[in-house]
Amino acid sequence: MAKNKISTEQRERLLQAARLAMKHAYAPYSHFKVGAALLTAKGQLFSGCNVENASYGLTTCAERTAIFAAVAKAGPGLDIQSIAVVNDQGVPCSPCGACRQVIFEFGPEATVVFQSARGWKESLITELLPEGFRLQ
Ligand code: THU
Repeated sequence: MAKNKISTEQRERLLQAARLAMKHAYAPYSHFKVGAALLTAKGQLFSGCNVENASYGLTTCAERTAIFAAVAKAGPGLDIQSIAVVNDQGVPCSPCGACRQVIFEFGPEATVVFQSARGWKESLITELLPEGFRLQ
């Protein structure tokens, strides 16, 4: 259980925004649509979806799309309080390793909401990514 648990209201708001963003997913190769939404420390909400490419490795996950959209819109001071990820197949889907590192960059204490093998789960990013990289 995450130490800084988010409220039920925040969680529902995040999941609703993530589901809405998921509808915009561009996933013609995997057919796996993903949506993500994040809440900032200032209470702003941003969302994103996965965007695939014929050159598979260029695909961007929903989580990173949401984070990059937030920086583009609100600037580099982004402070992620929580981030949720949903998919259109109702299967377990935790952020990939690359996204964990990007979440950590902007939210070292962020709570991550995702579907696990045992239902919805809330974890701290540091539980998902111990010893995340920092350049200092
Ligand atoms: N994907 C995400 O967008 N987020 C995740 O947390 C896991 C994977 C996307 C990438 C790709 O478009 C598709 O799901 C299948 O891997």
